[in-house]
Amino acid sequence: MALPERVRIVEVGPRDGLQNEKAVVPAATKVELVDRLSAAGLPAVEAGAFVSPKWVPQMADTAEVLAAIARRPGVSYPVLVPNEKGLDAAIASGVAEVAVFGAASESFSRKNINCSIDESIERFRPVAARALERGMKVRGYVSCVLGCPYEGDVPAAKVAEVAERLLQLGCYEVSLGDTIGVGTPMRARAMIETVAARVPITRLAAHYHDTYGQALANILASLEAGIAVVDSSVAGLGGCPYAKGATGNVATEDVLYMLHGMGVETGVDLDAVAATGTWISRSLGRENLSKVGRALEARTA
Ligand code: HMG
Ligand code: MG
Repeated sequence: MALPERVRIVEVGPRDGLQNEKAVVPAATKVELVDRLSAAGLPAVEAGAFVSPKWVPQMADTAEVLAAIARRPGVSYPVLVPNEKGLDAAIASGVAEVAVFGAASESFSRKNINCSIDESIERFRPVAARALERGMKVRGYVSCVLGCPYEGDVPAAKVAEVAERLLQLGCYEVSLGDTIGVGTPMRARAMIETVAARVPITRLAAHYHDTYGQALANILASLEAGIAVVDSSVAGLGGCPYAKGATGNVATEDVLYMLHGMGVETGVDLDAVAATGTWISRSLGRENLSKVGRALEARTA
């Protein structure tokens, strides 16, 4: 079983996790969360999103959060931007990395960013061009790579096409998102192989939601396929605490435990992330969705 020696973890909890919280999370809590995560050695902490506050009110204080975090040298703090208005806000906040987010499913694209896939690429084009001109880094996301809540199955060839178009816009990396967590390992691997036939696998990242409990298995399959960048969320933040069965991204603690247990380096301090997971779960009044986090809590209780 060939695994990478080192995996880069992109922590998405403060964005992908908190964008789904029903209750308002104070900006000070978000700032502390981002700072604790960067202090734990995470090389990238997605810090927010400059999106329409009418669509995602949870991210409306992103500028306030960015102004207050302690930016550590060597850590990147990407923010999501769906259009040039979002990019303008990112520039005003001194952001060095933005992420554009497209989808492999037309229906999801319309529901999420109110345009078709083709329109989204044309919308991202000036965003990426202007960001690159200013020396910013641009990451890309493709959502619904293993299934769409509105369309069901999504062809891997469509994922490959959208990933390639995002890389052609100048994204340094494209994260493949199993947005609704329906994928299973062999399908995940086959999808990645289809995408990697069109774009270099070194430019791909894996982004799994754990809705069906398949995320760790899918990550292992993705690593075996040659991926070495994994997105995850502290305490498995995300999903809806009131909707039975809904969950967020795979928990960072669980990914770290698995990787370190297999001898794969991350440079991240698991105990520090687990302590952060315990703290943020208590702060939000929700259950810690990381199994590793809960096991470590029980050991130290
Ligand atoms: P729209 O309604 O078509 O946009 O939404 P619009 O251009 O007509 O503007 C509507 C209003 O929003 C206007 O305000 C704009 O100024 C404002 P009004 O004049 O009505 O007062 N507006 C903005 N405000 C702040 N920042 C902006 C911005 N843009 C417009 N950037 C739009 C189109 C893309 C804006 C909207 O659909 C949107 O914001 N969508 C974001 C949805 C989102 O954040 N989803 C979650 C992230 S994606 C995800 O989670 C998946 C991922 O994790 C990977 C995976 O798991 O698959 C990444
Ligand atoms: Mg996501």
